[in-house]
Amino acid sequence: DAPETLKKRPPVVCVMGHVDHGKTSLLDAIRKTSVTDREAGGITQRIGAYMVSVNDQKITFLDTPGHEAFTAMRMRGANSTDIAVLVVAADDGVMPQTIEAINHAKAAEVEIIVAVNKIDKPNANIDRVKQEMTEYGLISTDWGGTTEFVPVSAKSGEGIEDLLETIILTADILELKANPDREARGLVLEARLDKGRGPVANVLVQKGTLHVGDFISAGASSGKVRAMVDDKGNKLKEARPSQPVEILGLSDVPNAGEVFLGHETDKQAKQYANTYLQQHKKDLIEETKAKMSLDDLY
Ligand code: GTP
Ligand code: NA
Ligand code: MG
Repeated sequence: DAPETLKKRPPVVCVMGHVDHGKTSLLDAIRKTSVTDREAGGITQRIGAYMVSVNDQKITFLDTPGHEAFTAMRMRGANSTDIAVLVVAADDGVMPQTIEAINHAKAAEVEIIVAVNKIDKPNANIDRVKQEMTEYGLISTDWGGTTEFVPVSAKSGEGIEDLLETIILTADILELKANPDREARGLVLEARLDKGRGPVANVLVQKGTLHVGDFISAGASSGKVRAMVDDKGNKLKEARPSQPVEILGLSDVPNAGEVFLGHETDKQAKQYANTYLQQHKKDLIEETKAKMSLDDLY
């Protein structure tokens, strides 16, 4: 896209870390702090992706269910996630999945912010976490490094505002932009078959705008967007860059990590899905490669 067509978009933030270090709890706390959620008066956990509003600035969070999901996202390229919030429990310190998460974030070249969680615990040791992290090249700004370490407690809410502020500042420096005035393109975060509604896909719009009525393909499936719902259960007519949304209307259930694309005609959408299927058949072993080459095609 030409530079003049690019407009500011919200950051997409992946929450990662070792099992039980508090990723989901932290997201729960964040959603309670956010203005939109207060206005909506409750949280509907429709999808594992949430958009919150902090002082009129939007942030999209992805609650990664372990490192595998993040690997798929990493392979989608630097465009999928902008910032990784690495959650480390202050009483537990750096653990195997913390290290895996660091490696994934580095490979994806995303900015890393460390949230040192559970600081309410009596045996919490923030300095120990900072010390352990130096081994992986993540040195706290107050120790002369460039990584922001934010002490937080998902339980008490302490530090949550600081964390959100750090995310917004980091996003501002990244100057994240996308062209909203083109066919939509994004990622399938997860998908399932709903008995009453058919295939339901949770997608993240990365470029363009997705509208109800648009023709789309997602991996080997195609269709026409019949309805869209956001993470709070609100019906939407359109979804812009960085917006996570649940869509109805696909013919089949696509795989998580697959690319979805908007098309001008039903025929194009079907052709694209079919091409994907053919590439996939030929290349079953190198499944990932096939996806990547299709990605390059567009
Ligand atoms: P997985 O998704 O399974 O990897 O875990 P998670 O990282 O999402 O952790 P989760 O939010 O499920 O929290 C794990 C446990 O830690 C729960 O019992 C939480 O109540 C607890 N917990 C999370 N954050 C805090 C905190 O700040 N303080 C204290 N004391 N407990 C916390
Ligand atoms: Na857990
Ligand atoms: Mg969790």
